[in-house]
Amino acid sequence: MTPAAAPQGLSLAAVRLSGVDLGLEHVLDDDEVARAGMFRSQALRDRFVAGRIALRLHIGALTGDSPGSLQALYSCPSCLNRDIPGHGIPGYRVPSRTSPLRVSLSRSEDWCLVAACLDDGVAGVGVDLEAESSAGLDGVQSVAMTENEREKLRHVAPALRPALMTRLWVRKEAVLKALGTGLARDPARVDVAGPIPRLFDEPPLQGRWQLEDLDPSTVGLPDEFTAACAIRILPGPEPK
Ligand SMILES: CC(C)(COP(=O)(O)OP(=O)(O)OC[C@H]1O[C@@H](n2cnc3c(N)ncnc32)[C@H](O)[C@@H]1OP(=O)(O)O)[C@@H](O)C(=O)NCCC(=O)NCCS
Repeated sequence: MTPAAAPQGLSLAAVRLSGVDLGLEHVLDDDEVARAGMFRSQALRDRFVAGRIALRLHIGALTGDSPGSLQALYSCPSCLNRDIPGHGIPGYRVPSRTSPLRVSLSRSEDWCLVAACLDDGVAGVGVDLEAESSAGLDGVQSVAMTENEREKLRHVAPALRPALMTRLWVRKEAVLKALGTGLARDPARVDVAGPIPRLFDEPPLQGRWQLEDLDPSTVGLPDEFTAACAIRILPGPEPK
């Protein structure tokens, strides 16, 4: 896939986490503040808070709503643990719209990629970024790649494999976020070797996919980042 702009209707922004004004923490709501209080270090807490502030500012810039007026609606389908507030599939209710906004976020090192979609026909949105080729991806090939993806990796020069592995991984995480499962769904059952993700589902998922490799410079990330976004579009009404 050639790196491209974001799919239509998806608004993306890259934000340096250390540049976010943590004095804006008051825009977060109670669940977000409670979740922030669960991190084991101040640095991790600040990173979380900065990402959530960045996401609210991005949504506010897109819809015209004030960042503090948004209601966070996070839900985790793979966990019944109500003791972890504000985690899972991200969503926000905004005063200017009747339906909640589909959003996504990914942090890597000092950067964060945020995405929001105004299109009500979109069932799910996912973005993912990784800081450098193959960092932390040892062993991923054997457990998370489909046969098709392994085949693709075998056919590139060894020196290019780490970059391709990272590319496949961010695509896969973007798709898994757009599905709302994250890694609770077996990543080896989601094939992202081509431009249309293939899900080994029974019955197959309804809808149409857009999966894009993102050019770091186009979205405002440093060159060493690898990023992808995915959206799943609901099937339209049957023609009469
Ligand atoms: C979603 C997931 C792949 C992201 O992991 P990651 O690469 O470490 O982190 P990223 O920075 O790229 O993404 C984090 C964001 O993913 C989003 N996210 C979390 N769970 C999600 C889900 N089920 N669907 C879609 N997006 C999700 C959130 O926006 C989160 O941002 P937050 O930290 O502000 O809440 C991973 O957390 C996951 O698989 N979670 C689901 C299963 C699981 O382990 N749950 C444990 C808690 S019950």
